[in-house]
Amino acid sequence: MYQYTCLNPIAGVGLDLFSDEYKKVDDLKDAQAALVRSAAMHDLDLPDDLLAVARAGAGVNNIPLDKCAEKGIVVFNTPGANANGVKELVFAGMLYASRDIVGGIDWCLANQSDENIAKTAEKQKKNFAGTEISGKKLGVIGLGAIGVLVANAAVHMGMDVYGYDPYISVNAAWNLSRSVKHISNVEDIYKECDIITIHVPLLDSTKKMINADAIAMMKPTAIVLNFARDLLVDEEAMVDALAAGKIKKYVSDFPNTTTVGAKGCIVTPHLGASTAESEDNCAIMAVREIRDYMENGNIVHS
Ligand code: MLT
Repeated sequence: MYQYTCLNPIAGVGLDLFSDEYKKVDDLKDAQAALVRSAAMHDLDLPDDLLAVARAGAGVNNIPLDKCAEKGIVVFNTPGANANGVKELVFAGMLYASRDIVGGIDWCLANQSDENIAKTAEKQKKNFAGTEISGKKLGVIGLGAIGVLVANAAVHMGMDVYGYDPYISVNAAWNLSRSVKHISNVEDIYKECDIITIHVPLLDSTKKMINADAIAMMKPTAIVLNFARDLLVDEEAMVDALAAGKIKKYVSDFPNTTTVGAKGCIVTPHLGASTAESEDNCAIMAVREIRDYMENGNIVHS
């Protein structure tokens, strides 16, 4: 009998993915395997019986990788399992930053009792005019599972797409549309693109990669999207640049006191993977990984 724990709610684990061979326990100290979504594990004591941790998501920055390596605990993530959810929210953010959707909706609500609302709207709509994303240059930084989906979808949206990734995998390169132009110098993305979206993992080498120098190279009309991790961006520098009109918008999925309410910032509460489908996909992949490892010793993304 294997014992596992869920360190925070993981929607799809309710799908009875484990067989009778597994017993759910409340505490990490009694568990041989742990499933985790966004809870930070850095301050937890890792019991000697713990064999595997599966993160239901792509990023593993909430897992103490060094401690796990020391103890021989295998760490899994679920690359690609939530990529559609994130991709779709990236486009929602892009469109939201380009069109005054909320201004228009708020205006309709404020004027709902006006019998002539349709007529008045025709006069008002110039106040809510936006820009199109079709034809714009999109820079995709990081061509993993999510970056590739975003880049390919952007091609279909009529965007001129530039991709940067010094470590692109064979699989990702194979899946990437031929219409995406490879850029070997990330600075060219900063200088040339109208919209820039980041899809890299948070590592020491990527921390604050979008810093004041990078932002200074961008167009004053540039829109930057961050659905990867907040620490990838020097957000103080970003907020200053937005306030000074040196860049147009910053769309982030990571709320904090620097960005929420700041001029030009559009912030959502880490919703990228919060779709029924992504949650199920991540849970199924995470449980399969644990099961495959516990039962067969296999280390695979399944
Ligand atoms: C990820 O790393 O894939 C996301 O942060 C997942 C999540 O929203 O839990």
